[in-house]
Amino acid sequence: MHTYKEEIGSILQSLVELEPARVVELLETPPDPGMGDLAFPCYVLAQRWKQPPAAIAARLARDLSGKRGRFWEKAEARGPYLNFHLDAAAFGREVLEQISAAGERYGWSESGRGKTVVIDYSSPNIAKPFGIGHLRSTVIGHSLYLIFQALGYRCIGINHLGDWGTQFGKLIVAYEHWGNEAELLADPVNYLFELYVRFHRSAEEEPALEDEARAWFKRLEEGDPQAVDYWTRFRSLSLENYESIYDLLGIKFEYYHGESHYNDRLTGVIRLVREKGIAVESEGALIVDLEKYGLPPVMLQKKDGATLYLTRDLAAAIYRYETFHFDRALYVVGAEQKLHFQQLFKVLELLGFDWARNCVHVPFGLIHFKEGRMSTREGKIIFLEEVLQKAIKMAREIIEEKNPGLADKDAAARIVGLGAVRFGDLSNDRIKDVEFDWDKVLDFSGETAAYIQYAHARICSILRKAGGVKAEWAIGATALQAEEEKALIKTLALFPEKIEAAAESYRPSTIARYLIDVARDFNRFYHNCPVLNSDPALQQARLLLIDAVRLVLVNGMGLLGIESPEEM
Ligand code: ARG
Repeated sequence: MHTYKEEIGSILQSLVELEPARVVELLETPPDPGMGDLAFPCYVLAQRWKQPPAAIAARLARDLSGKRGRFWEKAEARGPYLNFHLDAAAFGREVLEQISAAGERYGWSESGRGKTVVIDYSSPNIAKPFGIGHLRSTVIGHSLYLIFQALGYRCIGINHLGDWGTQFGKLIVAYEHWGNEAELLADPVNYLFELYVRFHRSAEEEPALEDEARAWFKRLEEGDPQAVDYWTRFRSLSLENYESIYDLLGIKFEYYHGESHYNDRLTGVIRLVREKGIAVESEGALIVDLEKYGLPPVMLQKKDGATLYLTRDLAAAIYRYETFHFDRALYVVGAEQKLHFQQLFKVLELLGFDWARNCVHVPFGLIHFKEGRMSTREGKIIFLEEVLQKAIKMAREIIEEKNPGLADKDAAARIVGLGAVRFGDLSNDRIKDVEFDWDKVLDFSGETAAYIQYAHARICSILRKAGGVKAEWAIGATALQAEEEKALIKTLALFPEKIEAAAESYRPSTIARYLIDVARDFNRFYHNCPVLNSDPALQQARLLLIDAVRLVLVNGMGLLGIESPEEM
């Protein structure tokens, strides 16, 4: 689409005395394709030209009458707009050629070449189960990772595990009181979680447990061998469980640098903060006053010397900059931590790090199940693993019913089930809360992964019957003129822009919504334009078209971390 816009930009530049890039920016999509494919709004010239917009549009249309470009065949005035009509055959040929030439890289670019983006995502808390709440960070973060990679960025994925803090003191106390080795080994994550819940329940009646927990955590911070031993075991048992979930989801991190990774850098951070004179001592604690910036104060060190979540994040940010020299650092973390990141970035700025402005919090809303918001403390939590297994099982049942003859039903069910969960999340604007509804996420005709995967599988089936597409096939001048075909081609042409837009706004939903449009345009085409039952020239053109649709669907779903099965 961009080539086409640029062509209009260069045609109009002398007529309207605007830079081509400015013309490109101004171009709009008319509400009804019958009116044209792109519209230049003439009211932007009205003041300068001292003429009504409609008169300007009419005059420009006269200037361009009888002319045509490589991709547009006519320009007409319509009210205050100058509307351009695409030369469908030329444009279609160009778009389909580009798609087939780029293949698995169609949509990809080099715009991020030489730049590094660090993405902090997933980051569950050790010894608490990997809950569905962390699903959002995991799938949004992973998709952003893939999107930036497609734009040529060097991506560094970091799992900032919550592997340090008072919860370890609590777990140790609980384990000391009620723990049982055999049960721990049988099902470590669930068992640790039970202990955690039990601790909180008991501490309500017996507040002394809290003191005990604090004391254990202090021992841990001081490197007491017994405490460290507990911590190491709890951590590695939890990590094993997370890794099996990441394997299932096909996710790999460059680093598992959890909060504990920064333990030996904390004194340095505290020293730096003191040197820069941005902190004050208050009742023995170290505080940075942010009132001037409209933010509440932050504590960097408690009076007993303990550091906080934010202190660790300061150390982590500085470490990341020193290690990776990032151009951007993304933190894919729930919106409830908005204030934390505002404070973090402000303190970094006050410390004089000009790269602080390249740190971005990418927030997202909550995920709701019927049970309401999950909380680890009360023990009402939905386990991500269970959700994933349930999705796979449900997908298996649907496939069994719809396609009993399918050869590898398990493989298809895994792809469809995991896709349903991911897409159920990613198709929503991330900032909104998600209502997770089993029936909706697996509805084959709704706005779901299955809907898109089904369109893809259908294309694969047509291509199999036709014996694939041949390199020497071409699109005739009169082919692909049906409205459904033109609409589909225009949609396919938008893919590269959608990837850029998704990266700019950190919104994978841009791609998810776009893929629904592609699948919908494809289905409309498919219902009205026979592929295999058309004459040979048209058949070739249509096969080339659906092969391009296939590539866009595969590439686009790939950016969401979702596979596209050839049969389902
Ligand atoms: N472990 C934290 C939590 O579950 C998220 C960590 C996000 N990353 C960070 N650098 N603070 O709330």
